Order: sequence, then C-alpha cells, then structure tokens
Amino acid sequence: MAAPNKLLVLDDDPGVVDFLQETLAEHGFDVQSQTSPADALERIKREPFDLVISDIKMPGMGGMDLLPAILGVRPGQLVLLMTAFGSIDLAVAAVRAGACDFIAKPFKIEALVFAIHRAFHDREMRREIVRLRARLPSTDTGQLVAKSPRMSAVIETARRVADLDLSVLLTGETGTGKGAVARFIHDSSARARRAFEHVNCASLPATLIESELFGVRRGAFTDAREDRPGAFITAADGTLFLDEIGELSLETQAKLLHTLESGRVRPLGASSEIPFRARVIAATNRPLERLLRDGLFRPDLYYRLNVIRIELPPLRQRQEDIVPLVDMMVERVADKQSRAVIGVSAAAMRRLVAYAWPGNVRELSHLLERAVALCDHDTLLPEDLDFPAKANDLGALLSDSAQAPVPLDELERVYVRRVLESRGGNKAEAARVLGINRRTLYRKLR
Ligand SMILES: Nc1ncnc2c1ncn2[C@@H]1O[C@H](COP(=O)(O)OP(=O)(O)OP(=O)(O)O)[C@@H](O)[C@H]1O
Ligand SMILES: [Mg+2]
Repeated sequence: MAAPNKLLVLDDDPGVVDFLQETLAEHGFDVQSQTSPADALERIKREPFDLVISDIKMPGMGGMDLLPAILGVRPGQLVLLMTAFGSIDLAVAAVRAGACDFIAKPFKIEALVFAIHRAFHDREMRREIVRLRARLPSTDTGQLVAKSPRMSAVIETARRVADLDLSVLLTGETGTGKGAVARFIHDSSARARRAFEHVNCASLPATLIESELFGVRRGAFTDAREDRPGAFITAADGTLFLDEIGELSLETQAKLLHTLESGRVRPLGASSEIPFRARVIAATNRPLERLLRDGLFRPDLYYRLNVIRIELPPLRQRQEDIVPLVDMMVERVADKQSRAVIGVSAAAMRRLVAYAWPGNVRELSHLLERAVALCDHDTLLPEDLDFPAKANDLGALLSDSAQAPVPLDELERVYVRRVLESRGGNKAEAARVLGINRRTLYRKLR
C-alpha cells in the first residue's frame, strides 16, 4: 500500500489541533500539527507535506498572509483554509491567492475529509494532464497560425531552438508576432511551467528600465525603500523576454552585455553580483543593422544576441496565412464579444487577402475586432471592414459612386503613395513592387 498522505494541521487553538490530529489520523492520514504560523512556515520549509490545513485568523500571521509565504517556499503546495468567519469573499480571495479549497467552521469532520480527498483527486488530475500534454504530437502550434512555408519555417526553427538554452533574437516589423513566437518558444521548452517575464524596454524611462531588469538595493536612490529583485532574478528558471531591445540606451546596453556574458546580475546600488538562471529571448522591430551602423547599438551586444536569429516575415509576404488567421480570429473575437458572427463573405475575404497590412497580424486582429463589434448581421461583408482612410482613397476613386473622374496622373499619385505606405515607407521595396526604378519613384513622388 502507498504511504499515507502527510498532512500539517495549523490552528492557534490547541483544542482544535488535537481534535483534528486525532480524527484525521483515524481516517488514515499521517497528521502533524502546529499552533504558530511562523513555526509552521519553518516546518514546511524543512519538510514536504501533501496538504496543509490552516486556520485563517491567527495571532501574528493570519492564513491569508501565510498562504503566499507557503507558496513562496513551496510553489504548488496544496493548502486548505478554514475559517470561523466564513464568507464567500474570503473564500474567493483565498482560492485566487492559490489555496486549493476553503471550508467554513463549524464543519462536520466528514466534510473536511471529503475536501481533503477532493484536493488529492484534483492534484492527480492536474498531473495526468501534464503527463498527457507531454505526449501530444509536436505538430501542435498552439494558438499560432503558420500555414505559409515562411511561417512554418519560423515555427520549425522556434521549436528546434526551444530546448537549446541559447539566447534568441526575434526581428520583424511591428505586429508580425514576435511576442507570440517568444511565448511559443517558452511554451515548447523545458521551462514551460516556469515564469515568463516580459519586459518592454521601450515603455519605461531609462532609469527605471535598469531597476526593472537588474533590481535595486534599498537606498540606491531616494524612492528605493526596499530591496527589489529585477526581472533577471524573478524569471528564475523560466524565460526573460526583453522586448523592443533596440530602444535601450548605450549605457544600459553595456550593463546588459556584461550581465549576459557573466551570467550574473548586479542590482542598482549593490556591491556584489548574483547569478541568474533565466533563458533570454530578445525582440526588436527596429533595423538593428542600421542602429549598429549609426553607432546606436553596441556591436558586441548585437553579436551576443544574434546567435540565433529568427526573422518574422511581414504578413503581406505570407498571404496564405491570412485566411486561417481571419477564421481563427473571427471565431475568437465573436466568442469574446458573445456575438453570433459566424464568418466572412468571399468578397470581404478577398479584400482582406489583398490588403498590404502595414501593421501586420495586430492590425488584422484590431480591424476584425472592430468589424465584429459593429456589424449587425452574421457574416462580415466588405463594407464592414474599416480599412484605414488612406488605403481607401483608391477604392473611392475607382468605385462607381466616385463623383467625378480624375486625371490619370492623380490616380497614379494616390496609388504610388498607397504602395509606399503599405511598404512602411521603404522606397526601394515600393519601387520593386511598382516595377519601376528608384529614381523614377522619386520623380513621381515629387
Ligand atoms: N501566426 C500567428 N497566429 C496567431 N496569432 C498571431 C500570429 N502572429 C501574431 N499573432 C497575434 O497578433 C498580435 C500581434 O502579435 P505580437 O504582439 O506578437 O507582435 P510583435 O511582433 O511582438 O509586435 P511589436 O513589434 O509591435 O511588439 C498578438 O495578439 C498575437 O497573438
Ligand atoms: Mg511585441
């Protein structure tokens, strides 16, 4: 027979503790007990328990404070809370904070035993899910659509590098899916069940970004009232995703390089360094090679990050992905908005496929979200699609209802501008698409 499940009972009332210890032992559990939360925490640090049963209201430290402390030392620990002040609010808060269940005093011992068995049963189920998930075929791309050969290649590479602990650099225009692929790499790696820390280097002022990344010691500057670990440390055995890395100042780049090379991080104001274990994935939508030429990005950091480079192609270069993306997103958005929209008309789909998507997958998803929210029928039609005004100029000129015909060169001007815009202002690419040389394009733009 398997060893009995080991329980720790914690209540400040010795009478309650004795009673529970005795009765639960009669139900076949190995029961230990404690009457002080601080002692209980020490004990849990030292020795593993299958389940901790704790009172919520205790002098010194209540169960609601103890819970995060327990989960801090033993993530995933099953903790069942009991309270004499049974209220649904407390129950919800406890479960949100990570308790496996909640039982209101007074309770019948059978109810407690039932809750204990259910907690073990749930844990078994979760383990089973993990086991089964590990056996799923690796063709599963999760939420990612990758029908085009170029995107399939991206996924293929991402999966291959997932378990190499090397740093990865993701590049590509805005909205192409760099964040999504970073997450996919994490989810496909052995670190999947660990932390995924996302730091957006563009959204914070330079001084804050360093404390965010490296952490701060108390007193490092005036508002640093306590030690705070940086993302390198909180990511622990998980993944640290450094987004918009092209926005870092040269000074921060130097610190980042040193951190990556030494495998150790020095919090602001600290005199020594601490080793970190996180895997680093970086991303940028800025042309790093150009930043490099302009002296805005350190070459040594660039070579360090660029070991494995995954380039996300713009959506206009993988039109095969548009139809499956639209199908998936319409379904998801309709679901989220509780709308009965079921699809996209053929004409609308043609417009979606033909559009150049300068904002890539994100622009597509926003446009569909608006369309689903505003439309009052069950199939999206071309008129439900609100393409940006600029892109519509041409449509307006060409549509039957255009008020007056325009001279040919007017049409050309609008079209050239639109192509240029759709290529993110890249004149070389616009010229190539238009089939003219760059000088001709410049002339036309003038
Ligand atoms: N291949 C894909 N399949 C499904 N959803 C995708 C795909 N690529 C991107 N998305 C979705 O599109 C949105 C934009 O993607 P994401 O945020 O990853 O872009 P990004 O490259 O990080 O953009 P930025 O450079 O602006 O940060 C997200 O909601 C993401 O989930
Ligand atoms: Mg992003």
